[in-house]
Amino acid sequence: MEVLRIVLLIGHFAALAVLLGAFVGQLAAGRVFGAAMVGAAGALLGTGLLLVAVRAADDLSVNGPKIGVKLAIAAAVLGCALVGRRRTATAVAAPVPAGGAVPVSPPAGARSSAVGLFYAAGLLTIANVAVAVAWT
Ligand code: HEM
Repeated sequence: MEVLRIVLLIGHFAALAVLLGAFVGQLAAGRVFGAAMVGAAGALLGTGLLLVAVRAADDLSVNGPKIGVKLAIAAAVLGCALVGRRRTATAVAAPVPAGGAVPVSPPAGARSSAVGLFYAAGLLTIANVAVAVAWT
């Protein structure tokens, strides 16, 4: 079980690196949610939950309130990524109407609200790192 806990912790850190790496990379490249960001947000949540289960099974301490806060923040990050990715896709897609050459404008506000969600996801992820390391 100790090996499993360490493997999961490495996965937790790898997901964190992908999420923050994609966030920083996207700051100067359109600020859109790529598939890597959405997947990493899900992987952080999944490995986090598995870490709690393995720690509990090994009779290691589990800080309930801290895990609750981390879970809520991680769920918010994943929600931002899922909604933001869908809004970006809606804003980017400009379908050409049948038989016409004039493209339809993307829904007003869809793109800017996706950018807001993008910043929220990055800042909430950093907040969760602070909770992870500062809450002992
Ligand atoms: C944005 C989401 C998250 C980030 C940025 C994050 C970050 C971190 C970091 C930096 C650590 C290492 C420091 C430490 O051991 O306290 C850690 C460990 C841990 N995280 Fe997360 N985490 C996230 C989500 C979650 C979630 C959703 C859970 C569970 C519901 C969770 C459960 C854990 C546990 C149990 C450990 C300790 C593992 C061990 O040492 O055995 N994390 N996390």
